[in-house]
Amino acid sequence: MKEQLIQRYSAPERINHWVVAVCFVVLAISGLAFFYPAFFWLTGVFGTPQLARIIHPFVGVIMFLAFLRQFFRYWHHNLLDKEDVKWMMSVTTVLKGREVGDIGKYNGGQKGMFWVMCLCMLTMLVTGLIGWRAYFAGYFPIEVVRLALLFHAWSATALIACIIIHVYAAFWVKGTIRAMVEGVVSHGWARKHHPRWYREMTGKK
Ligand code: HEM
Repeated sequence: MKEQLIQRYSAPERINHWVVAVCFVVLAISGLAFFYPAFFWLTGVFGTPQLARIIHPFVGVIMFLAFLRQFFRYWHHNLLDKEDVKWMMSVTTVLKGREVGDIGKYNGGQKGMFWVMCLCMLTMLVTGLIGWRAYFAGYFPIEVVRLALLFHAWSATALIACIIIHVYAAFWVKGTIRAMVEGVVSHGWARKHHPRWYREMTGKK
C-alpha cells in the first residue's frame, strides 16, 4: 500500500530554514574560535583569523534576516495554549514515548524553543552591531561595547544549547527530519505527535 503523506513545509520554507542552519554553523565555529583560546584553531576553517573576523558579522546579519522571515512564517503557530501547558507539565511522560494533550502544529517544547530562539536572535543582533568594530563600535563608550559583547556571548551560549536540543529532537522523534528535508510527514507521525494539526490538515475526526 502506498504510504500516505502530509505536506508540512514548502520548498521556500525549507530553503529558508537551511539558510539559517548553515549560517548558524558558520557563526558557531567562528564565534567559539574568538571566545575561547582552545578553539582558536577553528579560524583555520575560514583561511585566516582575520578573514573569520570579517566574515562573522556579515553572516550574523544574513542569519538574522533569514530568521526574521521564519519568525513571520511561524509566530502564530507558536502561541501557547492550555494543551501545550498540559504537554509541558507531563514532559517526563512524553520523554518515555507517550504523547500528552491535543497538540497542534507544534508542541509546548517546540513553542518554548521558538521564543527562546527569537530572544537570542534579537539580543545577538543588537549586541553584535554594538560590538562591530569596523562600523559601529566607535559610536559607543568602551564599557558599553564590553557589556554588549558579554551579552552577545551569553545569548550565543544559550542559542547553541537550544540548537543542540533542537537537532537532537529532530533525529530522536522518528520521521521529523523528513519534514525539513522532503517537506512531508506520514499520517502516523502527524496523528501521534500533532493530533489537532492532523485533523486540521485531513478533515478527519
Ligand atoms: C543545524 C541543524 C538543524 C536541524 C537538523 C534542524 C531540524 C529541524 C526540523 C526537522 C524541523 C521541523 C520540526 C517539525 O516540523 O516538527 C525544524 C524546524 C524549525 N527549525 Fe530547525 N534545524 C536545525 C537548525 C536550526 C537553527 C540553527 C534554527 C534557528 C536558530 C532553526 C529554527 C527552526 C524553526 C524556527 C523551526 C520551526 C519550528 C517552530 O516554529 O517552532 N533550526 N528544524
